Amino acid sequence: MPRQLPKNVGNGLNCTSCHLNAGTTAYASPWVGLAGAFPEYRSRSGKIISLQERINDCFQRSMNGKPLAFDSAEMNAIMAYMKWLSTGVPTGTNVTGRGFEKIDTSLKPNPVHGKSIYTAQCASCHGAEGQGTKNPHGGYIFPPVWGKDSFNVGAGMARMYTAAAFVKHNMPLGQGGTLSEQDAVDVAAYFTEKPRPDYAARLKDWPKGDKPRDAR
Ligand code: HEC
Ligand code: HEC
Repeated sequence: MPRQLPKNVGNGLNCTSCHLNAGTTAYASPWVGLAGAFPEYRSRSGKIISLQERINDCFQRSMNGKPLAFDSAEMNAIMAYMKWLSTGVPTGTNVTGRGFEKIDTSLKPNPVHGKSIYTAQCASCHGAEGQGTKNPHGGYIFPPVWGKDSFNVGAGMARMYTAAAFVKHNMPLGQGGTLSEQDAVDVAAYFTEKPRPDYAARLKDWPKGDKPRDAR
């Protein structure tokens, strides 16, 4: 992605760094069925948004980049792919595993314990400094989880409970589901609070005043 769309991607991630297996993995926010799920109300935007707007939200936040024009070849290609993935899913229904696993948001985070989990179970791939593991031929083998090449503070993944829900089901890669819910919250509290690019427009998020506790 950074190489295919250098003007629109401002970090070292790919869409599929989070939407695993090309957007087909349940509980890793799959794209299956989204063609018939949007337009949809989003509390972060405070209005009904189109699938193109939702895609651009991830370009601007998760990818720390710039939105695509709705009529660009790239946007049309992404839309066509999501439409194809949605073949056979009735309009207006959600596939099982849309979004992430539910996580108990009353759990209190312990970032100090989270650091020890990170060191033992995450740092081998994502780096002791969250910097990821670079591919000598360009890009990353294991993507960064904080720092300048990671998602920005306005991204869904920068929210502790959202990150915990992703990690609980999907990380460590290949061993998803092995962390307890508390451990997932603790490790998410550790890495989400680390330095990462800012996103000034986040101050306009949740215009109706229903901002979640873990939003930055
Ligand atoms: C850093 C992780 C990350 C990356 C990289 C990322 N996303 Fe996302 N994406 C998320 C999260 C987290 C959500 C759900 C956010 C929420 O609901 O709070 C999401 C939601 C979405 C949704 C809506 C899903 C639904 O069920 O409504 C779409 C569509 C989407 N992303 C497309 C993309 C595209 C296209 C790219 C690449 C240009 C991308 N994302 C890159 C984390 C990421
Ligand atoms: C074996 C290597 C490996 C381990 C260990 C691992 N991950 Fe990952 N992780 C990956 C890969 C690879 C991806 C991107 C998925 C892809 O490209 O298919 C990823 C993606 C992520 C992402 C979303 C993308 C980003 O860079 O922000 C987060 C967050 C994450 N991992 C957190 C963790 C946490 C927390 C742990 C420890 C509990 C962990 N990972 C352990 C390999 C690993």
